[in-house]
Amino acid sequence: MALLTIQNLSLGYDSHTFLENLNFSVNAGEYLCIVGENGSGKTTLMKTLLQLQEPISGRILVGDGLKSNEIGYLPQQTVVQKDFPASVREIVLSGCQGRCGLRPFYNREEKQLAEDNMERMGIASLSGRCYRELSGGQQQRVLLARALCATRKVLLLDEPVSGLDPKVTAEMYDLISKLNQEGITIIMISHDISAAIRYASHVLHIGTNIFYGARDEYVKSDVGSFFLREQEGGDSK
Ligand SMILES: Nc1ncnc2c1ncn2[C@@H]1O[C@H](COP(=O)(O)OP(=O)(O)OP(=O)(O)O)[C@@H](O)[C@H]1O
Ligand SMILES: [Mg+2]
Repeated sequence: MALLTIQNLSLGYDSHTFLENLNFSVNAGEYLCIVGENGSGKTTLMKTLLQLQEPISGRILVGDGLKSNEIGYLPQQTVVQKDFPASVREIVLSGCQGRCGLRPFYNREEKQLAEDNMERMGIASLSGRCYRELSGGQQQRVLLARALCATRKVLLLDEPVSGLDPKVTAEMYDLISKLNQEGITIIMISHDISAAIRYASHVLHIGTNIFYGARDEYVKSDVGSFFLREQEGGDSK
């Protein structure tokens, strides 16, 4: 069975539905990129996958031994989060909260996991620094290390490169790609369709037109070729 199976999912707020009858699945080891215009429902879909939000209808089946509290999440950054007055170590450790349950402290194993993931993301030397004093790229590495504390299997990333310059963006994409090659399933929201087709194995495009399929099919599809042309045109302006 797939890690996640999404069946006839409809999403919205109150009585307003903005996405209907969504069907797709994510298998272990895949790299799914979710693209679509602003406000199309990408973040809402991700929160629904994390069970932070109820769908209007439809269901999400979790399989392949995955537990719903074993999903790592890097949220879309807001201005308030960027100004968070905590140390890098504290933020990374907070990714272990799902493991602690009701225990009000982190044990030695969890502290070690946080250290290992800081090392893995190349931020061990920043562990005592205040999060809000870091650069955008360093902050995203901290959030990635935090998400890795929650999972060995699946990472959900909401716009992980937003606001980063091209060099740091490329480094971030490389880091995510490396995690995928190590066996972690990636579900990433991105505005950058050309990056989506460079790194992803599958693409989900939501909005007025919906497409779900392998990357190569997306490139050939009407929806995919239209948006790729549009974005390339936009980039060259
Ligand atoms: N808490 C909320 N209450 C009511 N409506 C909301 C709420 N959050 C989002 N919406 C609306 O739901 C729709 C989808 O929002 P969502 O944040 O999922 O879009 P998105 O695709 O992630 O957009 P972006 O690319 O700008 O991040 C939008 O019309 C938005 O205004
Ligand atoms: Mg969003």
